[in-house]
Amino acid sequence: MYGDMMKNLIKKAAKDIAAAKRITALTGAGISVESGIPPFRGKNGLWEKIDPMKYAHIDYFLQNPADVWNKFLKEMRSVISQAQPNDAHRGLAKLEEMNLLQTVITQNIDGLHQMAGNTDVIEFHGNFAWLRCLECNAVCQIGDADLSEIPPKCSCGGLYRPDSVFFGEMIPPLHLKRSHEIASACDLMLVVGTSALVQPAALMPVIARNSGAKIIEINPEATPLTGSTSNYLLMGTAGEIMNNIITELEGIAA
Ligand code: OAD
Repeated sequence: MYGDMMKNLIKKAAKDIAAAKRITALTGAGISVESGIPPFRGKNGLWEKIDPMKYAHIDYFLQNPADVWNKFLKEMRSVISQAQPNDAHRGLAKLEEMNLLQTVITQNIDGLHQMAGNTDVIEFHGNFAWLRCLECNAVCQIGDADLSEIPPKCSCGGLYRPDSVFFGEMIPPLHLKRSHEIASACDLMLVVGTSALVQPAALMPVIARNSGAKIIEINPEATPLTGSTSNYLLMGTAGEIMNNIITELEGIAA
């Protein structure tokens, strides 16, 4: 259980959240760890097993789509398709229900924020629920694609790629533009479960802070934002911290 210092920080976070007018959350792989999806970096991270600059890079995918599907995407599909939202996703949905949170900017491609009930989710790196044909650009839900043949093919004969962002690709311009706008307009940003090492996503808290917002991080570990961009870090797993914040907020509202 928590010490007094952590309990006080949770109380402070609940007060800051209750007092804010425009709250945004930026989330990363860490928020989905408790749903059984491994993160990219750190212990048990995906990048310990495969080289991201190979398997998550668009150039390698275009040269060797079957290899990327076999070594990376098939497993990702199986892990994501079994995952359900956890207490942290549900906590963010509850914040929206309490009219405290407007938008979630997520780097995740697992769709769990929408499944939990958040209605305004910017999928900064796209979504893995959809595939897009490299030839005709048609999109298809991954569940409807025939994955018995790898790489999967569209009815036009073109290869399917995931409709998510690979290294070496641009962030969808509309997502980037809207994220910039939202980051500069919010007065509080919750930064949950991201190592804040990948740009331009990691710039969003910096934009928010420079525009006067408070930045609260939730992460079991410090990040490059900690102690500089973020006002404070709630050190712990996202599910437990979010549960405690919601309990505090319900106390404030009662
Ligand atoms: P990372 O894997 O880089 O970082 C995961 C973060 O989650 C770390 O800071 C962990 O300390 C933290 N973490 C681990 N368990 C947690 C828990 N239970 N609760 C809260 N936090 C926890 O993931 P991202 O920051 O999302 O991009 O990575 C950013 C991007 O790098 C990804 O979107 C992906 C990747 O390459 C692309 O593929 C384009």
